[in-house]
Amino acid sequence: MSDAIQIAVIGSGYVGLVAAVCFAEMGHQVVCVDNDESKVAALQAGDPQIHELYLNDLLARHRNTNIRFTTNLAHATLAAQAIFIAVGTPQSENGDADLSYVEAVACEIARSLTSYKVIVEKSTVPVYTNEWIRRAIERNGVDHLLFDVVSNPEFLREGSAVTDFLHPDRIVIGADHPRAADLLSRIYAPLTSGLYYQQPTAIVGPCSAAQTPPLLLTSTKSAEIIKHASNAFLAMKISFINAVSNLCEAAEANVEQVARGIGLDSRIGPRFLRPGIGYGGSCFPKDVAAFRAVAHQLGTDFGILSEVEKINLQQKKRFLNKVRSALWTLRGKRIGVLGLAFKGETDDIRESPAIDLIHMLLAEGCTIVAYDPAAMSRAAAAIPATPNLTYAADSYAAADAADALLILTDWREFATLDLPRLKQSLRYPIVIDGRNLFDPETMTQQGFTYFSIGRSPAYPATKPKPHANSVL
Ligand code: UDX
Repeated sequence: MSDAIQIAVIGSGYVGLVAAVCFAEMGHQVVCVDNDESKVAALQAGDPQIHELYLNDLLARHRNTNIRFTTNLAHATLAAQAIFIAVGTPQSENGDADLSYVEAVACEIARSLTSYKVIVEKSTVPVYTNEWIRRAIERNGVDHLLFDVVSNPEFLREGSAVTDFLHPDRIVIGADHPRAADLLSRIYAPLTSGLYYQQPTAIVGPCSAAQTPPLLLTSTKSAEIIKHASNAFLAMKISFINAVSNLCEAAEANVEQVARGIGLDSRIGPRFLRPGIGYGGSCFPKDVAAFRAVAHQLGTDFGILSEVEKINLQQKKRFLNKVRSALWTLRGKRIGVLGLAFKGETDDIRESPAIDLIHMLLAEGCTIVAYDPAAMSRAAAAIPATPNLTYAADSYAAADAADALLILTDWREFATLDLPRLKQSLRYPIVIDGRNLFDPETMTQQGFTYFSIGRSPAYPATKPKPHANSVL
């Protein structure tokens, strides 16, 4: 396709693995390193261990040809021209990013560095991290002419990670030396030249040979800030619409209409204006906290980020109150829960608002029967086992004999449920939807009492038959 670059990717988490596989798809020679032996063994056998569209296919396509997996970092980096660091940057107790894994990898790279290499920050890191990496490598006795450190932030979303990587809105390369910028530009050339999109086997997405992704060259510090600022801005958009949804509830307006009205302004845009039970996942909560911590360390007051976090936390509590006001009391109630993942189309439960709500409902004495198309085994491993929480084989089984059904994740399959069958399964036809998957009018026509976010509660026109213990 164009010149193949020798690449090492350190870390086989979401970002590392997707980047490694996509670089292989772009025609490069990739070695992906992880210190977790069982993970590497699984990857060598073709099992990506994460639920991500196209990942299995691309792994099968390139395994043992363009991509290899190993636990041996020194060996993997020996021939590499570019080394991508994609290890975790978890949140430390005071909110800032814990960079100890990044530092450990930088020191390990330094110990085996014998020829010029570009070291690339792919993990989300605070501004100045590139300088710390450079210092750590020099401290290990490596001449500064033997390497450059660049920042190449990744904007992929879980659930559409492969498409996002190969069809990005933009490619950001933060480099302070032209030779490093040049190598990174060559790595992305199959996308920026459009050659990749002309291949018959190319993953289809918004980019094409006629519409290639723009490549933005910046300083390393700007690139680091671009990543944090992008995630913080998106989280802010979500908290903003969630705050508006609360206002809509108070004013008996409809947040979906309001969001559409706001989003049609091209300066604002319609995306990330979906109200719900708050944002979760491995990035937004951590990155908002880290960006706030960085701003504080640099003497800048970024109070809006604290507000974004506050609204996000309140959103879950408001939803619990919504459930309470729908059911009057919670102790002993049987609740069907649809969704455990932090968003639809992924098996990831990290910082999932659904999991937080399950903990809250269990603490209130509810009995929960939960269903998620992909995240049940992860949830079962993360939530301490209790007879009050069981897992169902499908949505209808979760709803079976339940006092109410809660929708906590926006899985596409939930939006197409067979409503008459769902109603038949439930003990009381009450749906409390934390993701606004349904139209209130449709729900009431089907005989449900329907609560959602930022819209008035909706009741069926003809009241259901009164029941001895009816909560309606
Ligand atoms: C995010 C960024 O989008 C991505 O660019 C970055 O690289 C990593 O972090 P991800 O965490 O995979 O990606 O999920 P995303 O689709 O952004 O959703 C994050 C959270 O926000 C989810 O809990 C989702 O349900 C919630 N969300 C998203 C809303 O509540 N409303 C919206 O309108 C959009």
